[in-house]
Amino acid sequence: MSVYREARKVTTHVLQAMKLKGEKIAMLTAYDYSMAKIIDASGIDVILVGDSAANVMAGFDTTLPITLDEMIYHAKSVVRAAARALVVVDLPFGSYQGNSKEALISAIRIMKETGAHAIKLEGGEEVRESVVRILSAGIPVMGHLGLMPQSIHKFGTYVVRAKEEDEARKLLEDAQLLESLGCFGLVLEKIPATLAETISKSVKIPVIGIGAGGGVDGQVLVMHDMLGITHEFSPRFLRRYHNLYEEISNAVQSYVSDVRSRDFPNEKEQY
Ligand code: KIV
Repeated sequence: MSVYREARKVTTHVLQAMKLKGEKIAMLTAYDYSMAKIIDASGIDVILVGDSAANVMAGFDTTLPITLDEMIYHAKSVVRAAARALVVVDLPFGSYQGNSKEALISAIRIMKETGAHAIKLEGGEEVRESVVRILSAGIPVMGHLGLMPQSIHKFGTYVVRAKEEDEARKLLEDAQLLESLGCFGLVLEKIPATLAETISKSVKIPVIGIGAGGGVDGQVLVMHDMLGITHEFSPRFLRRYHNLYEEISNAVQSYVSDVRSRDFPNEKEQY
């Protein structure tokens, strides 16, 4: 029997068992109750309340502006919907980089006020102290390496990371460091597939990729991208499972036309 079928509730231990058995982990972002309810009931293993909410929910160009209070609002809504999936919440930019005490306070707020199961933060060696302190409070931590959108102004571009040997070596070391500190999992974003596979094989914790190829332990996508709600954003790694932009647009156009032509509401649609 597969681990994911047996699990009535996905925990960090279930994810670990899935890696051991070679079962792939499916993770998606969600930011609100209604969508989280659908993806949870559809069998998703992990729901990430990503700071990509800054982009797809709030319309910002980067993830930097979203606040801890705003992340907590999104996470609360998602947690109310998630009956089975593990809910992981991003610590937003500015809520953990200052020092480890600030990081711990932010992580505790997320756990206490939302009921989520874990937090995620970006970085390796540079966030070591914060990771240790958050873990020491009993809060599961997921790392995030490779393209780290909160550092976009340092990187200058969203191109593939770690193509050069130095950066690839640092990434591998950071992944091993995060594992040794006690992180339960790791997201690798937009790095060469061969490097991602090497990292996934070199650590025992589950490695979830986005634009990191198929040699990792699971995949994550931003829900709005995979459903085709966003349509301007088309990176090579993105598989669109639907064109909801077009479907919603067609539905709204039909509604507008029905209202204007007095077709809606008809006799059966009134009291
Ligand atoms: O915020 C987010 O959606 C993420 C994913 C891209 C992994 O961190």
